[in-house]
Amino acid sequence: MTMQANTIGSDTITTLMQRRSIRKFKPDPIDEGIVKQLEMAAQQAPSSEYLNDWSAVRITDPGLKDTLAAIAKQPYVAQVPLLYVFVSDESRNIAIIHNKGVDTSSSEFTLTASYRFAQAQNDTVLALSAMETAANALGLGCVILGSLLNDIDGLIDLLKLPKYTYPVLGLAIGKPDQSPMLKPRMPRSAQFFENAYPAGTGEMLADLKDFDQRVHEYYDLRDSDRPVDAYSDQTASKAVDQHVLQKAIGPAAARQGFRLDR
Ligand SMILES: Cc1cc2nc3c(=O)[nH]c(=O)nc-3n(C[C@H](O)[C@H](O)[C@H](O)COP(=O)(O)O)c2cc1C
Repeated sequence: MTMQANTIGSDTITTLMQRRSIRKFKPDPIDEGIVKQLEMAAQQAPSSEYLNDWSAVRITDPGLKDTLAAIAKQPYVAQVPLLYVFVSDESRNIAIIHNKGVDTSSSEFTLTASYRFAQAQNDTVLALSAMETAANALGLGCVILGSLLNDIDGLIDLLKLPKYTYPVLGLAIGKPDQSPMLKPRMPRSAQFFENAYPAGTGEMLADLKDFDQRVHEYYDLRDSDRPVDAYSDQTASKAVDQHVLQKAIGPAAARQGFRLDR
């Protein structure tokens, strides 16, 4: 099954269907009016229980960009015109409730509980995604940077993140200086189900065969000399990826005051 053409006309849908990660940017700075618009689009994202429990740190210091590029092991990050680190943030809410006299030492206090942590991450990602879509709609390119979490403690220190905040993802934005192919997506039948999750995985695996081949044929500008592994091979190799273990969030979350055991 090939990627469905966009048959329903809407600028927003065209923007979403054309989106791809951009990892090479022109050096042109982004106009501050556009920056303001992007930030406001992020703020308009939905927020669970209206807690607004995220913040974003814009990185303008060239030295800091260099350091973040080194943490990410992605050198182009040092030259990205517009760079943010999105952060889950209960710090602001805790300051607000302190002002209201709420006892944060009580066992009923929840702003640092695991559900709140997940809730804040959801809000953070939705805000980042809204900014990405807004940037794409204006002809800008973006890449999300989970690689900043290669050194979670270092990132917390560098950005002086207070207790009850937690770094989630970076977002790099700029005018695209490359035009990569759209990366294939799996057939809808393998990802969208009706009423219940399918009982067996046999049909799903059969549906993924053609997709595997298309991923293998995909031309990745990140490393054009190396053929891209089929999706199944990529997924299998990630299942035993030691880097993921190094990025364990438990200790850093505890350091930031979150209690993921409750
Ligand atoms: C949470 C998240 C973290 C990501 N982190 C990185 C990253 O650190 N470096 C990178 O080059 N791409 C990163 N990406 C981009 C993915 O590699 C990319 O979205 C995926 O391969 C699909 O390609 P496409 O965005 O071009 O469709 C990240 C994407 C997500 C959603």
